Amino acid sequence: MRITEEATVGEIAAAEPSSIRVFEALGIDYCCGGKRGLAEACSRIGTPVEEVISRITQAEHDAHAPAPAAWAQARLSAIIRHIVDHHHAYVRNETPRIGALLEKVVSRHGKSHAYIGEIQNLFLAATQELENHMLREEQVLFPHIVRMEDAAAAGLPLPPAFFGSVAMPISHMIAEHDDAGALFASISQLAGGYVPPEAACGTFQALYHGLHEFERDLHEHVHLENNVLFLRAIALERGN
Ligand SMILES: [Fe+2]
Ligand SMILES: [Fe+2]
Repeated sequence: MRITEEATVGEIAAAEPSSIRVFEALGIDYCCGGKRGLAEACSRIGTPVEEVISRITQAEHDAHAPAPAAWAQARLSAIIRHIVDHHHAYVRNETPRIGALLEKVVSRHGKSHAYIGEIQNLFLAATQELENHMLREEQVLFPHIVRMEDAAAAGLPLPPAFFGSVAMPISHMIAEHDDAGALFASISQLAGGYVPPEAACGTFQALYHGLHEFERDLHEHVHLENNVLFLRAIALERGN
């Protein structure tokens, strides 16, 4: 894809997955903020859009490995399987591990670094919401999308759902993504961009590394849902 100022950040991330590393490095929100045009997203971080376009073009050029899975053409059921097996499993594995690291760091350093307690509260709130959110995706929304895709492939009418249009649960899920994204933005801010304090112990460093990776994975996860899966499910329902 030719990267233009008018293209949205979500479109660019979906078409050119190597751009995601550039967005992450610059702090451009490509998942919850994926509907923003590139020019607007760049002006929010005070970086000239031309510079960002040239970095993305370079990143595409540098990507020697074959492009990551072309989700734009993949079956929706394959995207869903990847989301559940990869991203949902990651959240479920990492939540207790990071929770235990937080416990340790709060008990050892909570008095001298009061913000760690705030990070713990935000992390617990975000992960509790995420757990409920993922269950609703797995039990309600995703199975419906798979049924829609199967019906369309068989040339049958799309199955009805108690919630009416698929756009209904999708808009709830997107709002919850925004909430989780905002909680993690606050965590990142409190953690000073995940740079551990000087002379931080190994547990402190492991905690910041874990939180940073968790946020990065959440961005990829939300991007794949908001900008790929959900848009394609809505288009499928509309018969496009
Ligand atoms: Fe999800
Ligand atoms: Fe989600």
